[in-house]
Amino acid sequence: MSLLQRDRELIVSNEFCKEFDFAEIEEFVKGASKNLFISHKFKTNKGKTLVQPRGGFPTYDKMFSLYEEFVKTGVDVLPMTIDSNTRLNDYANAKKMLELSEKENQDLLNGYPLISHGYKKTRKMITHFDTPISLRHGTPDARLLVDMAIASGAFEIEGGPITYILPYSKNFPQDKAFLYWKHVEKVTAKYSQLNEPINRESFGPLTATLVPPVITIVIQIAEMLLSLEEGVKSFSVSFAQTGSLNQDLVTAKVLRKLAKKYAQQIGCEDATINLVYHQWMGAFPRDKNKSDSLINVAAMIAGMVQADKIITKTRAEAFGIPTKEENGQAVGNVKYTLDILRGLPNFVDEEEEENLTRQVDEVFEAIFNDKADSLWRKIFNSIKSGIIDVPFSPHIINNNELITVRDDNSNIRIYKKGKLPISDKSFRYEQSKLNIGNNENSVVNQIIKDIGVML
Ligand code: 5AD
Repeated sequence: MSLLQRDRELIVSNEFCKEFDFAEIEEFVKGASKNLFISHKFKTNKGKTLVQPRGGFPTYDKMFSLYEEFVKTGVDVLPMTIDSNTRLNDYANAKKMLELSEKENQDLLNGYPLISHGYKKTRKMITHFDTPISLRHGTPDARLLVDMAIASGAFEIEGGPITYILPYSKNFPQDKAFLYWKHVEKVTAKYSQLNEPINRESFGPLTATLVPPVITIVIQIAEMLLSLEEGVKSFSVSFAQTGSLNQDLVTAKVLRKLAKKYAQQIGCEDATINLVYHQWMGAFPRDKNKSDSLINVAAMIAGMVQADKIITKTRAEAFGIPTKEENGQAVGNVKYTLDILRGLPNFVDEEEEENLTRQVDEVFEAIFNDKADSLWRKIFNSIKSGIIDVPFSPHIINNNELITVRDDNSNIRIYKKGKLPISDKSFRYEQSKLNIGNNENSVVNQIIKDIGVML
C-alpha cells in the first residue's frame, strides 16, 4: 500500500466517518456522468461565463430544495457550502447541531455538514441533479472533507494552503496547512485519472479588503503551481471585484497571462487553467436595491473579462445567509445580465498591464530565489519574511507591513510596501497615482473610507 493510501485509510477511520469503501468509490468516479464535472462543462461551454451561487443548509431536505430553486433559474454550477464546525474539524458539534436542526426544523448550522451526512446519502442528491457541484469551505485541514466530497460526486474543490489560512485563521500552523493541502492535491490528481479531471479552484478574494492585485496574482499562481506539480490537470485561478473597473480588466488579463507562463515554466502546460470572477466580496450596502445594482455591475465586468465562471452574491448579503428565493433571484438576474451583454469592447491599458506584470515577476523572482529546496517551503519562507503580505489578514504569521489605499479612480495602490520585493520603478509607479500626502491621520481616514467604498 502506498504512503498516501495509508494516510487516507487513517483519515477515514475517524469515528465520525461512518463508512468509506475505496474500491466502490473508485468505480463510482470511473462511471460518473460527465455532467458532474465542471472541467467538462468548461470545455463544452467555451466562451460562456458559467454562473455559480454559494449556498448550504444543514439538513438534506433544505439542501435539496435549495438545489431545486437554483435549477429553476438555469444555474450552471451548484454550490455546496460547508458549515463552520465541519470546516474546523469539529465533527461532533456538526453532528449535534444537524440533529437539532432536523428535530426543531431550524437552521442551526451555516452550511451543509457533509461528514455528518456521509457520502452515500449526499451522492444520491448530487447524481439526481446531474449538475457540477463546487465544494466551498475554508478548511485548513480538508483531507477527510475532500475525500468525502469526491466520493459524493462533488468534482470541484475550492481552497488552498494560503487562501484558506491567511484570511480565515489566526494561528493554524501555516507549514501544516501546506502539507495537508499537498495531500488534497495528490488525492485530486489520483481521481482525475479515472474520468474527466477534478477541478481545483483557488480562493482569490483573500481578505476582500484592499488586497492589491500583485498579491492576489502571486498567491493565485503559487497555489496553482503547488497543485499542478502534484498532477492536477484542471485549475481555476480567481479574483474578486476590486472596486475599479479598469483594475479588474487589467488584473484579469495579467492573471491569465502569467498563470499560463508560470505553469509552462514548471512543464505543466497540458493543464487547463480557468478564470473565475467573484462578485464584490467586501462590505455590502444594506439597501437591497443598491445591492442589486452592485451585483449587476459585477456581472457586467465578468462578461468584459470573459470569466469562465462568476460567483454570485445576493441582495441579502448585508443581513446574513440568504433564503433560497433570494439566492435563486440573484442567479437569475446575473444570467440575464450576462445574456444581454453583446458586442463587448476590448479595452487595453498597456501601462497598467506592464506595471502589474513587472510587479508579479519581481515577487516571484524573490520567492524562487529562496534557498529552500521545495516550492512549498520557498512560499512558506516568503510568507514568514513578508515577501507575501496580505492586508488585513488575522494570521499571526502575516507581516502586516504592506499598506494600500485607493487612488482617485478607486484603484488599489501600494502606499507602504513593507517587505514586498518590488523595484523602485514599480513602487514609484504606485506612488505616482496617489495624492494623499504623509499625514498618518488622513491615510487612516482614507483607508476607512476605502473599506466602505460600496456602502
Ligand atoms: N448560504 C449562502 N451563502 C453563503 N455564504 C456563506 N455561507 C453561505 C450559505 N450557507 C456566502 C456569503 C459570504 C460568502 C463568503 O459566502 O455571501 O459572504
